[in-house]
Amino acid sequence: DMGGHDTYMHKEMSEQPEAVDRVLRGRIEDRFATVHLGGLNLDAREARSIRRVKILGCGTSYHAGMVGAQMIEELARIPADAEPASEFRYRNAVVDPDTLYVAVSQSGETYDVLAAVQELKRKGARVLGVVNVVGSAIARETDGGVYVHAGPEVCVVSTKCFTNTTVAFALLALHLGRIRDLSVSDGKRIIEGLRKLPGQIAEILAGEDEIRKLAGEFAHARSMLFIGRVRGYPVAREASLKLKEISYIHAEAYPASELKHGPLALIEPDVPTVAIVPSDDLLEKNRAALEEIKARSGRILAVAHEKQEKADHTIVVPQNEPELDPILMGIPLQLLAYHTAKELDRDIDKPRNLAKSVTVE
Ligand code: M6R
Repeated sequence: DMGGHDTYMHKEMSEQPEAVDRVLRGRIEDRFATVHLGGLNLDAREARSIRRVKILGCGTSYHAGMVGAQMIEELARIPADAEPASEFRYRNAVVDPDTLYVAVSQSGETYDVLAAVQELKRKGARVLGVVNVVGSAIARETDGGVYVHAGPEVCVVSTKCFTNTTVAFALLALHLGRIRDLSVSDGKRIIEGLRKLPGQIAEILAGEDEIRKLAGEFAHARSMLFIGRVRGYPVAREASLKLKEISYIHAEAYPASELKHGPLALIEPDVPTVAIVPSDDLLEKNRAALEEIKARSGRILAVAHEKQEKADHTIVVPQNEPELDPILMGIPLQLLAYHTAKELDRDIDKPRNLAKSVTVE
């Protein structure tokens, strides 16, 4: 039942405020400026002994893991990174007892992720899951974890689950941070930010009309570039994947800082750029990148907290705490991918060549 929506994708994007509300519900502990994660199975002593965090997932879940790694590094000050599970399992990686491994999956059934988990377990590693489907294979094989509570996701392209997974990582990062060196006041600041998310997501979704109008301009692009820096980079990666999957327009994501090392050569009017430009400490750097693109007559759509002079259009999104901004900044780009695909009359819920869960090697 699509409840009045024309596609599951549209229905699921519109469910994001309630979905985020669900992942937060019952977990915030104001008294200690932290969160309680019931299924984590990791006591304070263990949490303090972690030297590294390695996050494994595929596709959108890998991108959510990239966001998560940055949150863990920023809030808990533990070196963290994300890697495609499929790459990890084939490169005979060093398995380190002081590393916390985290497997991320909507379905909990993706074979490459499951196989990575099994190999890690066999070698004695501690593996947590950040999973949506309760009782799924990955949920069962991991030592503990955080359920994402996005609710059922039917559309092949993941939207609400990406958002909820990034929120689940914010909770994990806050939890680890407060056991380690994150101050009470920073803990409170993050909690306040988390509480603002559902309302801010609803605000972004209310801007759909503006985005629908923009989509007409991108539907005939030859290729598109998505750029972002640090926190904005995984957002760019995910937005580029969404566009590819349902519109079939070629898109590539790049760190904005790498533009001048190659991709600037692609810039021309029918290769537009989408730039993630939060008003954080990298704002001036990002503005300089927009200037370089403009000087080469590139068209720019910015997703930002304030209007960007160098951009042809700015989608203004509400500002949260800088660490939480990535949760919000991709949402207008889900809508952009959706309306671009509509413009091209694509079968949005059933993109060609793709399956909802990839349970084969
Ligand atoms: O169920 P999972 O999260 O493990 O699935 C991983 C990927 O197959 C999935 O995210 C895929 O990239 C989606 N089509 C993204 O929209």
